Amino acid sequence: MRLVKTKENKRLIELSYEMMLNAYAPYSNFSVGAAILSENDKLFGGCNVENAAYPEGTCAEAGAISAMIAGGCKTIKEIYIVSKSENIVSPCGGCRQKIREFSSDQTKIFLCNIKWDYKLFSLNELLPFSFSEFDDL
Ligand code: THU
Repeated sequence: MRLVKTKENKRLIELSYEMMLNAYAPYSNFSVGAAILSENDKLFGGCNVENAAYPEGTCAEAGAISAMIAGGCKTIKEIYIVSKSENIVSPCGGCRQKIREFSSDQTKIFLCNIKWDYKLFSLNELLPFSFSEFDDL
């Protein structure tokens, strides 16, 4: 489904796109941008940042979450993840767990491609039976 720009999602769409353009991905050539809407409706962004030692690169979601925590917020209401690809790309396993830490059942995870086709998921759909030392399976 194609994402339609509204008054509500405009800033998230634009920030995630800007983040994707700012990505530093010369090794994979796969740019990803993420934008978070937190509690109190604050916005935070991140992009993937690679380096010559490949596994040391960081994902866009991790960058956006770091910015959110550094900005004093703890809850993801919505996260938009967009990649420079015709495919709708799904967050890696590590990022799913990172998103989980700051999510609720209400958290909306929008996965978008470069043409703004998107799929909307809950955290539980992306990471069922997720790890928490406090929950009994
Ligand atoms: N990447 C992300 O930024 N987020 C993900 O969820 C998956 C992968 C980045 C990491 C790397 O810089 C590039 O995409 C290719 O894997």
